[in-house]
Amino acid sequence: MTVKFYKQDHQVPLEMHKVRIVQKLYLPPIEERVRKINEAGNNTFLLQNRDVFMDMLTDSGVNAMSDLQQAAMLRADDAYAGSETCNRLKAALLDVFGTPFFLPAHQGRACENILSEAYVKPGMICPMNFHFTTAKAHITRCGGEVIELVRKEGLEPVNNEPFKGNFDIPRLKALIDERKKDIAFLRIETGTNLIGGQPISMENMLEVLSICRREGIRSVIDASLLQDNLYFIKTREPEYKHAPLRDIMHKLAEACDIIYFSSRKLGFSRGGAIITMHENIYRELMEFVPLYEGFLTYGGMEVRSMEAMAQGLYETLDMEVISQGPIFIEALVRELVDYGVPMIEPAGGLGAHINASAFLDGRIPSNQYPAGALASALYIAGGIRGMERGSISEQREPDGTERYAELELLRLAVPRRVFTLSQIKYCADRVKWLFDNRELIGGLKWIEEPSVLRFFFGRLAPTSDWQDKLARKFREDFGDSL
Ligand code: F0G
Repeated sequence: MTVKFYKQDHQVPLEMHKVRIVQKLYLPPIEERVRKINEAGNNTFLLQNRDVFMDMLTDSGVNAMSDLQQAAMLRADDAYAGSETCNRLKAALLDVFGTPFFLPAHQGRACENILSEAYVKPGMICPMNFHFTTAKAHITRCGGEVIELVRKEGLEPVNNEPFKGNFDIPRLKALIDERKKDIAFLRIETGTNLIGGQPISMENMLEVLSICRREGIRSVIDASLLQDNLYFIKTREPEYKHAPLRDIMHKLAEACDIIYFSSRKLGFSRGGAIITMHENIYRELMEFVPLYEGFLTYGGMEVRSMEAMAQGLYETLDMEVISQGPIFIEALVRELVDYGVPMIEPAGGLGAHINASAFLDGRIPSNQYPAGALASALYIAGGIRGMERGSISEQREPDGTERYAELELLRLAVPRRVFTLSQIKYCADRVKWLFDNRELIGGLKWIEEPSVLRFFFGRLAPTSDWQDKLARKFREDFGDSL
């Protein structure tokens, strides 16, 4: 159920909460923004948060917590073993997912490490709808290979398909016929991070999972982005319109072997978890927790985070809570699309994604990093920190040649319940201004390129004085405005 506005063509996203704790923001003047982004090597990961007006880098660990989560954190039971906090989290997982077995981990990638260590051996493959960087890194480190089976619509920037994260089932069946014995596990990403937060349908997931059951293939759900995906199941898949969220989660947990998630996203907290219905799986994975994470009752998590996670998971059962991410993203995407800005469509979860190559009219070649250049330009235009999701985020081939990304995206994550509508409108406004002045944007070149994880630590410089020109145009258009 949504609150409808009187005489409005489009649904206005309405905050179903009120703000009771605030953090003061600073918007540096544009000349300072040019300086700061260059001090940060034109890499938004290297900007200091104090210089950022809207932090749209990620939705990870930066979602607003509820009053009940804050309250729950106060009763955390700090004990190495047998803590009541662990029991409460276990009970919440059983209630919300129906899974009696729980292994704690310090965050999502720690779960991926454990699963890969346990199941991936050299020469094995892991089919999935689409990879996520950390999942792929752990699988390949163990000698495995990721095979992506997303339907072709998933890679098209604009497409009416409501579930662009769906598996291509015929390709999955063909792969099973050919290489079934090599499959370590199949991974379903519920809400595909790298192709624009696009959801996967319940119908597609259940079909994939029933194939796995029939063929005896181990199945794993990465539920990190499940809360947004649940919203899309409820609103885009008619069969589930009236289904309680708890029933959907239980159905998924029953149909698969293992669920893991980053609680920096799911549950608005920190930490991570592996959960299952099956005791044998629990026993197979158990030994890795004390080895890499911590004792079985906390697994590297701080007890307050575990309390916040338990409460956050209950809140995931509330449509008025889980709708907040998607409806604000939808409003941002709609405003930009109406203006003609090339966006990934339809709007998905996690954030809004600008198609950087199209934004820049294909003028900036891949070796000058269009998505990185746009990220730098948007910080200059508005003090807004996005994340490059293009070729800088790829890694060079072993022989040193570049591997260019299929899509050059600038991701503007929308942390849940953090920004107000006027801030979202400010973001849209600065993107529109940048779009009208896109011919001023130039490319980037490396000044320091690390051989691994270059997107985190690498430093780049503009290929010309385009950033100063952009700042001068801003002054012409906005006068002495920040
Ligand atoms: N799976 C998905 C789908 C993710 O989006 C992430 C993290 C992880 C696993 C790893 O979880 O960070 O707790 O170790 N995504 C973050 C992002 C980093 O910004 O999109 P983690």
